[in-house]
Amino acid sequence: MKEKFYITTPIYYPSGRFHIGTAYTTVLADTIKKYKKQRGYEAYLLTGEDEHGQKIQTVAEKRGKTPQEHVDEMAEDAKKLWKLMNIEYDDFIRTTEERHTKIVQQIFDKFMETGDIYKGEYEGWYCEPCETYFTETQLKEGKCPDCGREVVKMKEEAYFFRMSKYADRLIKFYEENVEFAKPEYRKTEMINNFIKPGLEDLCVSRTTFDWGIPVLKDPKHVIYVWLDALTNYITALGYMSEDDTKFKKYWPADLQIVGKDIARFHLIYWPIFLMALDLPLPKKILVHNWIMMKDGKMSKSKGNVIYPETLIDRYGLDATRYYLLREMPESQDGIFTPEGFIERYNTNLCNDLGNLLNRTVAMCNKYFAGQVPQYNGTPNEVDKEFEEFTDSQIQKIEEKYDKYDINLALQEIWVLISRANKYIDETTPWVLAKEENKEKLESCIYHLIENLRKIGIVLKPVMSETSENILKQLGITKEEEKEWDSIKKYDTIKQAKVIEKGEPLFMRLDAKEEEEYIKGTMKQ
Ligand code: ME8
Ligand code: MG
Repeated sequence: MKEKFYITTPIYYPSGRFHIGTAYTTVLADTIKKYKKQRGYEAYLLTGEDEHGQKIQTVAEKRGKTPQEHVDEMAEDAKKLWKLMNIEYDDFIRTTEERHTKIVQQIFDKFMETGDIYKGEYEGWYCEPCETYFTETQLKEGKCPDCGREVVKMKEEAYFFRMSKYADRLIKFYEENVEFAKPEYRKTEMINNFIKPGLEDLCVSRTTFDWGIPVLKDPKHVIYVWLDALTNYITALGYMSEDDTKFKKYWPADLQIVGKDIARFHLIYWPIFLMALDLPLPKKILVHNWIMMKDGKMSKSKGNVIYPETLIDRYGLDATRYYLLREMPESQDGIFTPEGFIERYNTNLCNDLGNLLNRTVAMCNKYFAGQVPQYNGTPNEVDKEFEEFTDSQIQKIEEKYDKYDINLALQEIWVLISRANKYIDETTPWVLAKEENKEKLESCIYHLIENLRKIGIVLKPVMSETSENILKQLGITKEEEKEWDSIKKYDTIKQAKVIEKGEPLFMRLDAKEEEEYIKGTMKQ
């Protein structure tokens, strides 16, 4: 039986059009899902939308819609975008769905029964856009510590969750599960910034607005949007519902991906809610950084927002996915620049990869009428070295993928691509042809095609269309020659014929013109 792999994205606020930052989180999750699937796992990807809360209510009102009308439209838009981006999600949960709301109410009830939730009075500084209360000390220069915007003082009767009760258990869990957070320093941040100063009980209900899930036994209160939202990861699987087969099969999650701004919710509150429910904790929370612009965060008012459709429509999906994943380092924010985008496109995709394929297909046509030569089983010294390099590079690529370091996996793939280009320069097949050195020439072309086949396979999680295209041009049609398990082997390609006329994978772009084009879209 296949091993399962359950992976989740955050559920997004349908408060506006998604920019490339939001798209990044989803593409990252999708890529890891596809990688796991290729490696033989039964991978299950959950995404969705976080539809309740004051902010959504306000946005809907501004548009002259009811909140429900608004979120219905936004959910359709989101699904369209994910389809455009070839996101292979298995379920799309919306927090307004009954399968979710019913269970959230039951969970809240259960917490009241166990005493984890109690009634009290809340006074604090509230950030409306973030839907979060802060204490005086948490504020940064009197403003929201997360988004830097104005906060207002609010007081209300409210329910609280006894976070404090679980602080020690959480620290112990962190210590025993060193790899729970990736990168690990995110845990230390949580301990120093939130747990050590004294973990405060969390206010988990609101009476100031009504676009939310009512508390079953006290319906003038709606359930705090984060308690509502976090539980999506289990309600979507049918937790506490009649049919909980998926829950039994997939929980605990193997990987939950979140941006750094919501690390606190996933590294502190979420594990604690799960402890209170007596459920196992996710195996790993991956906290990624942000995609920034040169002048800071993307925002409509600054006129520096990039939407995924802009890039996809003009440069294609694969170039867009490649750029997003390649530009995001683990330890710092990635910066989007039009120059950087075009540079990556022209250099990595068009030159390094595109030309390698093009030259290879052309030579196979020229020297062997397109028929891929057979592997001769006794590689000469140059070929042997190329094989060894490839093998060790493939191992590195797998390691990076296994650690979910997708940007590093891509770096290693490009090291392999460069090595293959260098191999052409070393072997000079045109000289071998002139010298009529048939054996060497056959081996050379075989190795190039074999290498590109491997490159096609390891690129698939990130760029499935390009991967298909590469394999198609090489004449690789048999399923067993496309499987990940075949990438450590040589002698695999039998009876393949490359296409007669190679097609460029990526067309070279005029840098100046395209930079202007991208900048122009940002001002709209
Ligand atoms: O926080 N670069 O939703 P959200 C990279 N509903 N990632 C970015 C980004 C950027 N510039 N901007 C946003 C919420 N993100 C909650 C989640 S989960 C139970 C509830 C990421 O729509 C951000 O870090 O505000 C977060 O992971 C995700 O987009 C959703 O943000
Ligand atoms: Mg946000």
